[in-house]
Amino acid sequence: KRIVVLISGSGSNLQALIDACGTGHIAGEVVGVVSNIADAFGLTRAENAGVANQVLSHREFSSRDAYDQQLIQCIDEYTPDLVVLAGFMRILTPEFVQHYQGKLLNIHPSLLPKYQGLNTHQRAIDAGDETHGVSVHFVTEELDGGPVILQAKVPVFAEDTASDLAERVHEQEHRIYPLVVNWFCQDRLTMSENCAILDNEPL
Ligand code: GRF
Repeated sequence: KRIVVLISGSGSNLQALIDACGTGHIAGEVVGVVSNIADAFGLTRAENAGVANQVLSHREFSSRDAYDQQLIQCIDEYTPDLVVLAGFMRILTPEFVQHYQGKLLNIHPSLLPKYQGLNTHQRAIDAGDETHGVSVHFVTEELDGGPVILQAKVPVFAEDTASDLAERVHEQEHRIYPLVVNWFCQDRLTMSENCAILDNEPL
């Protein structure tokens, strides 16, 4: 299967996906990486792995619609089977989401439906949560609201800072994102009527 990954930053999840394709843990290949940020380190990761990559800066577009239309064109040149959001820090238009319906995945650093949006680690600490985590979900028009496929939990310790917690969550991200992407690549995972389905069972 052909995978396109969208990033805005460090790209450690991108790296986990590239590595898992390399070792055969994902039955697919990352064929392209697109970043909206020119100096995202993930672009260097793509380059080092010999993966085609490009920058499409939102700053050069007058509207979200115009940007997303161009983004669709960029992505579709890679003829992907799956589009993976890996720290892509933009809200997507309904047109974009519909275009990739059922083949667009995101990873969000909280136990959804808790803490949609930003600053999830600090919010978990401030709420006094004893458990925090990460969710992989299909993307729908509802921000961070699409059907959850897989979650991993981590403990929150009394002395944790947001960055301690982020680091603990990241380890789990790098474990579960390749797993889910592989399920998709093996044709075991689909979305139907706003529900994620694995091996014919609703999740
Ligand atoms: C991760 O925490 C992910 O859950 C969130 O953005 C971050 C991306 O990290 N959506 P990286 O760029 O993959 O290191």
